[in-house]
Amino acid sequence: MRSFVILSLLLLAIVCVQSHSVLKVPAAWNPNPSKVKSCGAGQPQGAAQATYCPSTAYTIKWQVVVGDGVGPVTIGINLGTKTTANFTTLKTDDSPTAVGTYSISVVMPATECNLCTLQIQSTSDWFSCSTISISASACGQAVTDAPLEPVKVDNQLSFCTMKNKKTVMVPVGANVADIDKATQVSFAANLANPLVFSNNDSNCRQLYYPFICDLAFPQAPGSFNETVDASNSLTQQECASFSSACQVTELHSSLYPCGTYPLEENSSNTLVASLASLVFVSVISTLLF
Ligand SMILES: *[C@@H]1O[C@H](CO)[C@@H](O)[C@H](O)[C@H]1NC(C)=O
Ligand SMILES: *[C@@H]1O[C@H](CO)[C@@H](O)[C@H](O)[C@H]1NC(C)=O
Ligand SMILES: *[C@@H]1O[C@H](CO)[C@@H](O)[C@H](O)[C@H]1NC(C)=O
Ligand SMILES: *[C@@H]1O[C@H](CO)[C@@H](O)[C@H](O)[C@H]1NC(C)=O
Repeated sequence: MRSFVILSLLLLAIVCVQSHSVLKVPAAWNPNPSKVKSCGAGQPQGAAQATYCPSTAYTIKWQVVVGDGVGPVTIGINLGTKTTANFTTLKTDDSPTAVGTYSISVVMPATECNLCTLQIQSTSDWFSCSTISISASACGQAVTDAPLEPVKVDNQLSFCTMKNKKTVMVPVGANVADIDKATQVSFAANLANPLVFSNNDSNCRQLYYPFICDLAFPQAPGSFNETVDASNSLTQQECASFSSACQVTELHSSLYPCGTYPLEENSSNTLVASLASLVFVSVISTLLF
């Protein structure tokens, strides 16, 4: 009986919760999953993230970060770069059904444009946009998505201030101050969402802050001939502290996967034990549900 109640509560949580999803290729204005209409916050990049041949099918990549509330996505286009544009639907695709990265084929419009906006919108209300070009010059060429490029940040960041004076990887033509603002919006939205964090006290906010900034501005390893300062890297232990302080909900644990951060060399047995028990709990929950 008790397990039936727990199971029902969990199913209810799964039904109520929404996924975190974001456009990965071409690179999105805001690297964070975001529900801000109609482009997931952020500002157009100053350069096209990819150049496509008119009336030709291309693959875009949509990542569902959290395994709940997945749903069909609508891909739209606007031939300008206004943040408040209306989008013409190119395609609706219902393949995003679980956590993972989806390669979705979409036929570009016949009209050429120098800088225009590709928009992806999910039925669970996640939005992303990317600045692209449509040009006959791309016909017959293999598509090359603009890679992230290393950018030396001066003092343009007012939110992710710990990334000022650092070299970080951002989409080509992106304005770091715009990414900074979008990241601040996502930070506030995630903290205010009890489906993501069960606790959002000041300790949680302080520990979460470097993680969302690291996701928005990953450190460029060795770029511009700088040696990577290992002391700048966030660690699995710090990630575990943040997860525990914010009580990251079970369903959103994959939003900030601690396993992608390096282990601190001299980890204490206590931390190892608590990490092991976290893994144990996850494995058990996966087996049960
Ligand atoms: C978008 O479409 C709505 C409804 O058709 C219209 O009222 C609005 O002016 C349009 N916005 C832009 C920016 O074109
Ligand atoms: C903390 O979460 C609650 C909902 O659980 C929300 O109402 C409140 O605004 C959040 N506080 C901050 C600072 O985000
Ligand atoms: C990196 O170092 C190489 C050789 O030491 C030099 O030729 C190059 O200009 C340097 N690049 C930058 C961005 O400083
Ligand atoms: C780890 O331990 C070694 C030797 O016990 C020590 O030299 C080193 O400074 C420690 N590193 C950290 C990050 O604490």
